[in-house]
Order: sequence, then structure tokens, then C-alpha cells
Amino acid sequence: MRATWDALASADTARYVGDPARGAAELDSLFGRLGADPRGGVCVEVGCGPGRMTGALAERFDRVVAVDVSPAMLERARASVPAPNVEFRAVSGERLDSVADGEADVLVCYLVLQHLPGRRVVESYLREFARVLAPGGSAFVQLPVLEPGLRPRLWRALRALAVPLAARLSRDPERAPAFRGFRVGPRELERALAAARLRVAARDEGPDAPYRHSRDLFLRLEPA
Ligand SMILES: C[S@@+](CC[C@H](N)C(=O)[O-])C[C@H]1O[C@@H](n2cnc3c(N)ncnc32)[C@H](O)[C@@H]1O
Repeated sequence: MRATWDALASADTARYVGDPARGAAELDSLFGRLGADPRGGVCVEVGCGPGRMTGALAERFDRVVAVDVSPAMLERARASVPAPNVEFRAVSGERLDSVADGEADVLVCYLVLQHLPGRRVVESYLREFARVLAPGGSAFVQLPVLEPGLRPRLWRALRALAVPLAARLSRDPERAPAFRGFRVGPRELERALAAARLRVAARDEGPDAPYRHSRDLFLRLEPA
């Protein structure tokens, strides 16, 4: 994950991260579609990238802890977000190692879970969200979820074979499993949330981004 995203950090940001000019509007839309307008306290941003949303978070919250698996992304974010109430920290990619239990009043994770290379890592991150949330805290999370039915399942099974093969044949980071990601199914997500002891306080569906055989899902999660 680290090598893939470090390689992409020097590439075209709009293509791999999202339109830099739309970061603040997408953040407002994420909160708005989940019926919230959180402000104050500590916000943990998971997968901050080059800081597209971090400046807008710094205006809302007393303190922002922005974490990413990629030191190169964090370097870019530090250069573009000078706000004194933001602290950038690296994480291993499977756990939010540098974030303390209960540190987050609010957690934001946007355009990140879809890139995690397998279900086990997604499950681990959901458990970590529960661990770092303060009592009464909320996690605002976007992820594409596989549509129900046989075709999406078949597509995912073929993709699980094709993605590692393509990665072996090419050094292009865009072909790496850590960029292509894994799509969880709706039942798998339900089970993972229950195992993480997170409950869905609000939900909304896309179509913000077109994902093959998947729906863009937006969740406000709270400790169960
Ligand atoms: C598509 S970008 C989105 C960045 C930001 N959330 C935004 O919307 O502008 C994905 C980011 O997630 C980071 N990332 C990927 N896997 C990660 C992981 N396991 N843990 C933390 N960050 C990760 C990448 O380094 C990259 O900066």
C-alpha cells in the first residue's frame, strides 16, 4: 500500500485522488447527506492524501489528526495545509497505529476503503474506527459496496484473479491491488460492522461516483 501510494503521490492528483478544487464541497456534501454539520473537538481524517479536504476540516474542528499510509502523500499535504491545528501522522495501512483509543470525536474516511486490497483490511479498519472513536463520536465513511446478485459476485471473483496477475505483468501503480482495491458485499459489510461494534446512525447512496457493479454508500457510524 505504501509503495503504491507513494508512487501515485507524484502523479496527476485530480486523476488518482479527486479534484483538488472540490475537496471542501465534497466534505460538506458528505456531512449534509448524512444529516450532520459537526464542528469542534478532534477530527481524525483517515487517508488524507495531499490534503484535499484537510484545510476544510481544520476550519471546522479544534484539532485535526490527518493520517495516511503514504509518507509522500503526507509530505504533499504538509506543504499545502499550513493550518496550525493539523497534525499529520503515518499509519501502517492495516491499523491506525498512531491514533489513541477514543481520540476522535469525529472520523472522516473518504475515497479510501475502496482501495484497500482485501476484505480483511477493510474489516480491520472498521474495528480501528470503533477503537479510536470517543464515546458519542461519529465516523463519516464513504465506500462502494458490491450490488447484490450473481453477476457482481462473478465479476468480483474474476477481478480477484485478474488484478494480481495484471500487477505481476506491469509496474504501473494504477494496476496494483492497493489501488484497484476490493469490493465488500452488503452482507459482508453488515457482519463487519457488527463485529466492530459499530451501528449505522445514518446512510445514503450515490451516485456520486460510477463504480462497476457497485453502489457508492455513505455511512454515519457510531459505537454500538
Ligand atoms: C483517493 S485518495 C483520497 C484522499 C482524500 N481522502 C481525498 O478525498 O482527497 C486515497 C488516499 O488514501 C490513502 N490510503 C490508501 N490506503 C490506505 C491505508 N490503508 N491507510 C491509510 N491511508 C491509505 C492513499 O495514500 C491516498 O492518500
